[in-house]
Amino acid sequence: MAELNLILMGPPGAGKGTQAERLVDDFDLPYYATGDILRAAVSGATELGRHAQGYMKRGELVPDEVICDVIMERIDTPEAEDGFILDGFPRTVPQADVLDAALDRRGRSLTAALFIDAPADEIIRRLSGRRICVKNQHVYHVEFDPPKTPDVCDQDGSGLVQRDDDKPETIAKRLVVYEEQTAPLIERYEEHGILRRFDGSRPPEEVHSHIRATLATLALEAEL
Ligand code: AP5
Ligand code: MG
Repeated sequence: MAELNLILMGPPGAGKGTQAERLVDDFDLPYYATGDILRAAVSGATELGRHAQGYMKRGELVPDEVICDVIMERIDTPEAEDGFILDGFPRTVPQADVLDAALDRRGRSLTAALFIDAPADEIIRRLSGRRICVKNQHVYHVEFDPPKTPDVCDQDGSGLVQRDDDKPETIAKRLVVYEEQTAPLIERYEEHGILRRFDGSRPPEEVHSHIRATLATLALEAEL
């Protein structure tokens, strides 16, 4: 297959970041997560970060025009020539329109939209116990996916912290925003024939095997 252009979709806490870490290793693709990019911008106090901080703290989406350029710049880099994994983008119909049009202009298209779903009660348990590392935002859970040494990242040795938007009232807001603004994209990608659904309530390794099997089938089909 010439290119593997993937997007990861699903509600907050479904496991997009968790699966992305595994898929990056499997397929050696660049990974662009808008949430990670924005959080790095907030800690670096860049102009983007100052603009985004308030929206993120409230559990709202940052304006479309702020985020679209951030992603397009990355898709145009040489490292993304053979494909990419997007996580957290697109998240609104206008963002999806921008992405489709931009890829189309470049003679490219999305290979698959990987939709990981999980029920609300599970999401709340996951987000309340999530920890991320301060250096590279690697994802853990105090109970479901603990690091080998408490509060230390297995991969880079940095400390683990809770995300600002993982407080109960912000989680509730993020779920509403997801249903209103992002969930409509599921139907769009279904109509385009590229949606692939995964049961995110299964253990991480199981979800990972299902996604890998699906991508292997897609690769085989592309070669036929
Ligand atoms: P973002 O960072 O994208 O947050 P999100 O979509 O709410 O998703 P999360 O990162 O919370 O969840 P995840 O699915 O990655 O789950 P994870 O793998 O960590 O966005 C944050 C904010 O940035 C937005 O609210 C918005 O303000 C802004 N933003 C970002 N993109 C934007 C855009 N395009 N437009 C506008 N604004 C934008 O897993 C969660 C926990 O569960 C972890 O602790 C993990 O260890 C555990 N876990 C994962 N999988 C499993 C499993 N199978 N079983 C048990 N536990 C599991
Ligand atoms: Mg994430």
